[in-house]
Amino acid sequence: MDKGIVKIGLLGIGTIGSGVVTLLKKNGRAISEKIDVDLVLEKVVDRDPAKLQSLGLPEETITTKAADVLEDPEIDVVIELIGGIEPARSMIIAALDNDKHVVTANKDLIASHGEELLAIARDKNLNIYYEASVGGGIPLIRPLKQSLVADRIHRLVGIVNGTTNYIFTRMDQDNLSLEDALLEAQKRGFAESDPSNDIEGRDAAYKLIIMSGLAFSSSIEPDQVHVEGIGGVTYEDIAYAREIGYAVKLLAIGEKLPAGLALRVHPALVPLAHPLAAVLNEFNAIYIEGDAVGEVMLYGRGAGAMPTATAVLADVAEAARSIHHQCVDTMIEGTFHKASFVPIKDIRTRFYLRFLADDRPGVLSALANAFGNEQVSLDMVIQKRSFGDTAEIVLVTHLVREEAFQKALEKVMALPAIKPNPSMIRLLG
Ligand code: HSE
Repeated sequence: MDKGIVKIGLLGIGTIGSGVVTLLKKNGRAISEKIDVDLVLEKVVDRDPAKLQSLGLPEETITTKAADVLEDPEIDVVIELIGGIEPARSMIIAALDNDKHVVTANKDLIASHGEELLAIARDKNLNIYYEASVGGGIPLIRPLKQSLVADRIHRLVGIVNGTTNYIFTRMDQDNLSLEDALLEAQKRGFAESDPSNDIEGRDAAYKLIIMSGLAFSSSIEPDQVHVEGIGGVTYEDIAYAREIGYAVKLLAIGEKLPAGLALRVHPALVPLAHPLAAVLNEFNAIYIEGDAVGEVMLYGRGAGAMPTATAVLADVAEAARSIHHQCVDTMIEGTFHKASFVPIKDIRTRFYLRFLADDRPGVLSALANAFGNEQVSLDMVIQKRSFGDTAEIVLVTHLVREEAFQKALEKVMALPAIKPNPSMIRLLG
């Protein structure tokens, strides 16, 4: 077969877009040798002409009009790197309508409209590739869709947000407050200027929806994920967690329980011996448990221009292979069935709790009674320090249903000796 040519249109020149242009210049020839197809960047679109000029591409390649890509019959593959829901969604639909394969890194869009867009693509015998939407440069979508298809995955646990992992690492290693660690993350370019999606767990939740949809072949809506951010975690919690053998991480957890899928994002204590505890700074990792393969961990850089560009261009290469060999690989796309979901109140887990209490006789026994009366069994109770007539107490429970724990916690907090605003962090079991 002759060597093929596949023409690409790129929508959006932000961090990843510039990375794609740079990586294609640097490794285009090597990719072409591997796939026997030349990838040609035909047109690049951005609203900002200055950004386009800065790429050093020929004048005829750059344009501020998306239609120049979407309606160009020469273009085979459209890379969408605009982000957000609209106009990205409409542009992807227009690209499919014009018979173009689509590659995207847009996690918000795939998490919330992925099934709709994949169905449009399937009807047209085209595909949408989204390896770059989760875990930056870590190969993750393809392993979930293809390599592990013979397994029944019963749980996946991910550190999928680099900003929060960097913050927890700095809090742990340098005793920084959350605010100072966030400033450090912003200074070093890991955190966005508005990091609320990261800090509040939404970024991780979108990624969990995409991974879980594939791992469990299920249709998932954003409101089926329980999401808590990292705002309540202090460096005292991180230090005490380490003393008792745990690291604190923002986890995205998808589990297939007998009653249905349980999906949640929240900070968690991870045993120091667990491989996820060793994932530091801005790195991401996904730990997958399957019935046949056992445990698999995928680790690497979850963001950044060049790692993410690797994933984008791998998808373009896959599209180019299927175009050149005239076989569309829609059959390996995920299938998404209706699922039942287990609400957080029914999930059984262990809890770490830290709070202040009056330092006087009978407080610990009143506390133990309040938990005992609600059938919450304590694994560990430590009085950390006393200052004046106040004591700081840290405890860890045995496994307990969330609803039972919350009810007991309410009773404990109503005790006159206990001060308000406890820190509560779940444990990874
Ligand atoms: N803001 C994300 C993170 C990167 O901190 O991991 C993009 O998904």
